[in-house]
Amino acid sequence: MTQDITVTLTVNGRTVTRAAGAHLSLLRWLRDVADVTDPKYGCGEGVCGACTVLVDGEPVSSCIVLAAQVDAAEVTTVAGLAGADGVLDGLQQAFLEHGAAQCGFCTPGMLMAATELVSRGVRLDRDTIRGELHGNLCRCTGYQAIVDAIASVAGGERG
Ligand code: FES
Ligand code: FES
Repeated sequence: MTQDITVTLTVNGRTVTRAAGAHLSLLRWLRDVADVTDPKYGCGEGVCGACTVLVDGEPVSSCIVLAAQVDAAEVTTVAGLAGADGVLDGLQQAFLEHGAAQCGFCTPGMLMAATELVSRGVRLDRDTIRGELHGNLCRCTGYQAIVDAIASVAGGERG
């Protein structure tokens, strides 16, 4: 029997209250219940990172977290990075300028992982950036342009 519970999250600054089955993932809650479709469903097993969102500032694979587990949290998706006027944030602009997306499927999760990286406020070299992105897979770009984009914001060396 499905147990219906109510989950309230602040999603990109907007308070959203919706029903959630006890076993509904955060990703399904966002996409199918709250109509927040920018986090992507890739593997559904916590491997690819396409579903990465920030939960209270921490990157989370939303496909393997239950919505009910994060009740009352603040969730940020890639749609929450740009300003209300639509102006891209620094990382989004860097991805654009470096051509860091091809098909774009990984990009919402990649940008959220990168956002947390940059938020640490420390200088990151390219090897560190590559290592920190181990949970976010991209089958298109070979990562070079992605690392270039993040390095341009996080103070790492271009190369
Ligand atoms: S869809 Fe969540 S990690 Fe792949
Ligand atoms: S741009 Fe296609 S998977 Fe990364």
